[in-house]
Amino acid sequence: MVIRSISLIRVHFQKFKKIQKMEKDFAITKCICFDTTFEEMKKIMKENDLKSLEELREVKTVAANCKLCVPYILKMIETGETKFNIILDN
Ligand code: FES
Repeated sequence: MVIRSISLIRVHFQKFKKIQKMEKDFAITKCICFDTTFEEMKKIMKENDLKSLEELREVKTVAANCKLCVPYILKMIETGETKFNIILDN
């Protein structure tokens, strides 16, 4: 019984590790249309003391095509996060 429990724990741990790797591999990290990472945007905003997406757009062209990155940029501005493993929408 103990050996079976340890085996089950091991299997669940391995699945958990695979999920963690998948999340890392599929993280949303940039505005694809303008090939600019959220990390780069965050740096630009800090260097120029920018507070909003509109101000960022005046300095760097981002989020001006499909706009799928907009909710992520807004979340980046709000939280400072630059990698997202969840789907965000407006
Ligand atoms: S991903 Fe940013 S405008 Fe398309």
